[in-house]
Amino acid sequence: MSRGFFITFEGGEGAGKSTQITRLAERLRAKGHEVLVTREPGGSPGAEAVRHVLLSGAAEPFGPVMEAILFAAARSDHVEQVIRPAVDRGVVVLCDRFMDSSRVYQGVTGDLDPKFMAALERVAVNGMVPDLTLILDIEPEEGLRRASARRGDGAADRYEKETVDVHRRRREAYIAIAEAEPDRCIVIDAGRSPDEIAAVIESVVTAALDAMKAIPATVDA
Ligand code: TYD
Repeated sequence: MSRGFFITFEGGEGAGKSTQITRLAERLRAKGHEVLVTREPGGSPGAEAVRHVLLSGAAEPFGPVMEAILFAAARSDHVEQVIRPAVDRGVVVLCDRFMDSSRVYQGVTGDLDPKFMAALERVAVNGMVPDLTLILDIEPEEGLRRASARRGDGAADRYEKETVDVHRRRREAYIAIAEAEPDRCIVIDAGRSPDEIAAVIESVVTAALDAMKAIPATVDA
């Protein structure tokens, strides 16, 4: 494969993104693809340093604009240091959260100006728009129940502590993104069993990779 493929996973808390990413990575590797699994915020040394600041809540007192810029700074580093070089090498990159998380968490439920968010996104993503975005859709109550079961006695992070109503608005915001960008986004019902979800994801991704192979490579004049 000359160019790789960039797939992002999105959705609320407890949708099962990381389980599904691990399973898809195994399936793709078994088929001979080189796969890189990464996540946001983080994924590069610079972005991992910023991740701690964001998820601990240390940036929260400085306001949502500060947080949005930090997410964008982390994303820019991650894109340029890790994602773009991997895709250029022919790797299939699987990323746990990406630009749609900022649109939803900072833009919609953080009430930030859409023009400001769009400008930040352009700078951070710098053309590295995902080839495919899988939105794992789950009822907020069920997602929060799963997230707290997974956490056990551990403390909820800055974003897990918010109310069910906020989670509901995020769910709607993800659906709106999928409706606005149907060529990039696919909504997957994550209320089913992990095996059923994995089977759907595998068929969607196989179809997308096959479609990419069917496009003839551009010939430079
Ligand atoms: P993480 O522990 O990775 O959670 P999850 O398992 O839900 O992916 O924490 C990431 C948190 O950061 C998550 O609650 C969503 C939030 N987030 C944003 O608010 N904006 C962003 O741009 C990104 C990437 C994440």
